[in-house]
Amino acid sequence: MKTNEIWVAPSLLSADFAHLGADCDKMAAAGAKIMHFDVMDGMFVPNISFGIAVLKSLNQYTDAPMDVHLMIREPHRYVRQFAEAGADYITIHVEAESDVAGTLALIRECGAIPAISVKPGTPVEEIFPYLEQVGMVLVMSVEPGFGGQSFMPVCLPKLRALRAEAERRGLDYRIEVDGGINLETAKLVIEAGADTLVAGSALFKAADPAAFIREITQ
Ligand code: DX5
Ligand code: ZN
Repeated sequence: MKTNEIWVAPSLLSADFAHLGADCDKMAAAGAKIMHFDVMDGMFVPNISFGIAVLKSLNQYTDAPMDVHLMIREPHRYVRQFAEAGADYITIHVEAESDVAGTLALIRECGAIPAISVKPGTPVEEIFPYLEQVGMVLVMSVEPGFGGQSFMPVCLPKLRALRAEAERRGLDYRIEVDGGINLETAKLVIEAGADTLVAGSALFKAADPAAFIREITQ
């Protein structure tokens, strides 16, 4: 199987919301390939972030591809609007209440790339039935809801299993990991098979974001 280029996806949850566009510019200039946009509804996770209107404005401002992570209870109700607002990738959770296969198909029909995610406590096998449908899988390495949490090594065997499954079935999805990624944990997840690394607090706090991204991607 071909090895994908490593991408760092800045989690905009750690950005300055009064200057989201400028923060996207800064991260794109530092070498980020894709912006990670965490949507929370206060139901699927105990927090509320931003949504469709903010994505639309941001997408009109920047050319950076948008990686939309829906931590919402009923994603099928909103995927069309997120796609129309400019989402390039749309990730739903297998633990959400929507029909998974139907929602992934709807995302594709709306012109975005579908992706499926698992929380730390969910066995990775639960997403195996959907791997043919997706362009990316997202393994959570923290409990979804908040930036700045510590990395959970439970993601590592899941990343390996997804890499092995891609080879076994001849599939070509990207493997993304989200939560607690810093320069040390980045090495572990890449070694385990991840090629798309979400980084929030560590990247936004870095004195030199370009050096941070370079160190991970080279
Ligand atoms: C958590 C979000 C993450 C988070 C990552 O629910 O999905 O994208 O913002 O932030 P850090 O890198 O600080 O763990
Ligand atoms: Zn996320």
